[in-house]
Amino acid sequence: MGRVLAIGHRGAAGHLPENTMPSFEKALALGADGLEFDVALSRDGIPVVIHDDTLDRTTDLCGPVEGATFDELQRADAGSWRGVRAHLPSLDQVLASYSHRTLLNLEIKHSVRRAEIVDACIEAVRGRGAAAAVMFSSFDHDALRVLRAVMPEARIGVLVDSSGIEHALACAAEIGAENVHPPVSLVSEAVVARCHGAGRNVWAWTANSASVIERMLAYGVDALFSDFPERVVEAR
Ligand code: G3P
Ligand code: MG
Repeated sequence: MGRVLAIGHRGAAGHLPENTMPSFEKALALGADGLEFDVALSRDGIPVVIHDDTLDRTTDLCGPVEGATFDELQRADAGSWRGVRAHLPSLDQVLASYSHRTLLNLEIKHSVRRAEIVDACIEAVRGRGAAAAVMFSSFDHDALRVLRAVMPEARIGVLVDSSGIEHALACAAEIGAENVHPPVSLVSEAVVARCHGAGRNVWAWTANSASVIERMLAYGVDALFSDFPERVVEAR
């Protein structure tokens, strides 16, 4: 078994404003093996990197992300809430900067424009020749089904939601996903064994405390998402 991957959750969200370029740089400087980030769609159909479906918490704008144009989003201040200068990145900007440097986990956020967001992400990834570097994931399993239908080469991790591990494993088998991505609250030694037995890697989120990180390592997960990726690097 290889080394457990340390993946910076939203970059290094424990240190710098989540889902921004400074946060991604920080995660790599701390030794992360990969970067997780969330992707939503602007009103005019450009994939942008932000977690919430509204702008209120992490930028100086407010309202739904999908209600703003890409131009408007590019002018957003996404760092002041954490005392840092940072913009809201586009997916293309993140792919251009990092797909040749590290592993990327592109989490597709739920959108009523499901086919449009999936298509836009595929176009961006293919446009940068980044398919091998990108692990797609989503809680929206129907979005993953659309993704697989359109992109046979996509690497996919099925995010585990309240419907549980078995539901995610069934989806993973159906679409040929490499991974399942459960919350740490659902992970046990038996769950890891079950997933490995089904041929899926286990990438667990979000492991921030030393005790949770130690427990996940003991269970034999394959990767850990952390807001403090250096803690995983140190513990493994
Ligand atoms: O992809 C792992 C984790 O990021 C999923 O939850 O809400 O932080 O995107 P969330
Ligand atoms: Mg996420």
